[in-house]
Amino acid sequence: MNQRQFTSTTEAVPVSGTHPRHIAIIMDGNGRWAKKAGLPRIAGHKRGLESVRTVVKGCVEAGVKYLTLFAFSSENWRRPPTEVSLLMELFTNALESKARKLHENQVRLRIVGDVARFSPKIRMLIQRAETLTRDNDKMNLTVAANYGGRWDVAEACRKIAAAVEAGDLKSSDIDSKTIERYLSTSFLPEPDLFIRTGGEQRISNFLLWQLAYTELYFTSTLWPDFDDRAFQDALRSFAMRQRRFGQTGDQLIGRRRATNA
Ligand code: IPE
Ligand code: IPE
Ligand code: MG
Repeated sequence: MNQRQFTSTTEAVPVSGTHPRHIAIIMDGNGRWAKKAGLPRIAGHKRGLESVRTVVKGCVEAGVKYLTLFAFSSENWRRPPTEVSLLMELFTNALESKARKLHENQVRLRIVGDVARFSPKIRMLIQRAETLTRDNDKMNLTVAANYGGRWDVAEACRKIAAAVEAGDLKSSDIDSKTIERYLSTSFLPEPDLFIRTGGEQRISNFLLWQLAYTELYFTSTLWPDFDDRAFQDALRSFAMRQRRFGQTGDQLIGRRRATNA
């Protein structure tokens, strides 16, 4: 199992700056955007891809190294079959047409989620895009597809149990760092900033474990309308937060003084 290169916010108090290192986004409101415009829902999903481009560019420009986007949840299969198949088609087209562009911009693409449920074609395109971009380090784009926070934690438990059965791990050695190593996001630091567009204030089974100390930002802006200005608003909101990680505000001021000295 890979060693985690990032420290956990519940294991040690992280040094946090005014800029997020990792942003995680629930891109919600595509359907409502389309409905308002008198268009089919899929038109909203298509327009949503424009917003993806905007935030990827915004992250590169702002020096945000990790961006994770929730594209399709493990519960989204419950939608009408026609919408699901149109979303799969859009995902296929996006993988086919955007991988090269990401590569040109030195962006590394990774997919997290239960990809086994996708068609062989999508699985092939995922693998191809991940391989193409594997050496890029300008920015790390992770797309969560057929992802569920509960699936992620359950998978980690299953793999840990298998490692114990195989004699590679002792049950008495299992702690939160072990779980983090087995999560599908083990290559990512914890998100600093979570954004949900579309007005709902819920997590919808996104990164349940990983959001423990993430700053939450909810906006009623629908995802296709989420432009650079909206993105900068979210960054500004983050910069104003005092992240205490269990400590008192006074301790933080003391810590800052100590760092500046
Ligand atoms: C988010 O937009 C995209 C996906 C879940 C795939 P929605 O499709 O949920 O849009 P609303 O919430 O119906 O407006
Ligand atoms: C969450 O949006 C999932 C994605 C954006 C991919 P939903 O629109 O599916 O969330 P709920 O069902 O309203 O909570
Ligand atoms: Mg929605």
